[in-house]
Amino acid sequence: MEIGKNSKEPITLSDIFKGFSKLSREERLKALMQAGVLENADIEYLQRGGMKDFSLGEKFIENVIGYFQMPLGVATNFRIDGRDYVVPMAVEETSIVAAASKTAKWIRDSGAISTRLIGQDIIGQIQLAKVKDFAKFEAQILKFRQLWMDLSNQEVAFGLVRRGGGVRDLVVRRVPRGDGTDMAVIHIHMNPVDAMGANIINQVCEFLKAPIEEVTGEKVTMCILSNLVDTRLTEAQVILEKIEPDLAEKIEEASLFAQQDPYRAATNNKGVLNGMDPILIATGNDWRAVEAGVHAYASRDGQYRSITEWKRDGRFLVGTLRAPIVVGTVGGVTTLHPTASMCLRMLNVESAQELSRVVAAVGLVQNLGALKALTTVGIIEGHMKLHIKNLTLAAGADEEEVPLIQKKLEEILALKKRISLSHAIEALRELRSRVQTHS
Ligand code: MEV
Repeated sequence: MEIGKNSKEPITLSDIFKGFSKLSREERLKALMQAGVLENADIEYLQRGGMKDFSLGEKFIENVIGYFQMPLGVATNFRIDGRDYVVPMAVEETSIVAAASKTAKWIRDSGAISTRLIGQDIIGQIQLAKVKDFAKFEAQILKFRQLWMDLSNQEVAFGLVRRGGGVRDLVVRRVPRGDGTDMAVIHIHMNPVDAMGANIINQVCEFLKAPIEEVTGEKVTMCILSNLVDTRLTEAQVILEKIEPDLAEKIEEASLFAQQDPYRAATNNKGVLNGMDPILIATGNDWRAVEAGVHAYASRDGQYRSITEWKRDGRFLVGTLRAPIVVGTVGGVTTLHPTASMCLRMLNVESAQELSRVVAAVGLVQNLGALKALTTVGIIEGHMKLHIKNLTLAAGADEEEVPLIQKKLEEILALKKRISLSHAIEALRELRSRVQTHS
């Protein structure tokens, strides 16, 4: 089907995925509208340049002076748990959207992506830096455990309880102070349903501060949520059926490298976050919280490791990602920011769980794309080729000069296997001096 020609004809996401990257921006918008992903008002909003209303910015932060514009693209070809998704990605790094779409196409043709959630609850922490007698303190807390959970649900988390969530557990932990004594830390476990839950879990912890102090006679030092949410993990799995045995082996080796060596693990996980962060940003979610959780989870056994793993299983290559990805689809920026709420509509997810599963899937797919490039053509060809245009513009080439400089840089890349801004500047200087000599 030729997209963007007849706006009356209804089309599916499968239809628009074919050749999407070759369309002009106008045609892309039209295709997304034909597929029912965007509405007329969304297109007008995007054409006007997105959010312009400064009073909204003032609601989000202080000392506002403007907006920071970032490209918003869509990754195509994603079929996750048998459903097609158009994935909004707000990101400035060249090749991320292209690599995600290309790798998703590979999996779409030769494999499958499945996801699941392991656990429901987020964690809030109440610290008591010094308790006189830990065993006595623990016994006192556990006596009131059920009452305090019920009270928190009645007084603070009642909205979540109505939607099927709320406070579900209260646990006492002993944390060494490092000087031979211990501090006490109470963990509140709460199912936030479709919210990210940060505000409510913090409110629950602060609500419990007074009764805890009253019952135990000890002093609460501080209360805050934890971003290491190992009680609510999201898992994505990719199974590739048709893959060259040699390539599968190389990807398995690259994955082992990232499991065993923290220096490689950091870069590997950065590549995974290349896929995850842009969706979090586009949907108005707190990407710093997810990043912190991912890195903490990656070091859970004391060594920083990859959060993805690729292994051969017979003729299959199987990839798994497991990480805390706590996101929201209601409340806060997700609802207030018009671009975020448009992106959530575009993604068409029904719950925060579903959004976290999409985020995990895109992170894993992005990782596969990177490992494939790194173990075959290398980063330069896969990454810098697309970067040539940016270098050309950064060197100061004008519209007429751009194609000539790009061609020259491609030649240098093919010859030297590397390319930099100084090559672009030099090529532009040569071109201009040649033009001057001939005129
Ligand atoms: C670059 O933004 C991301 C990569 O470095 C990821 C990786 O090394 O796996 C290519």
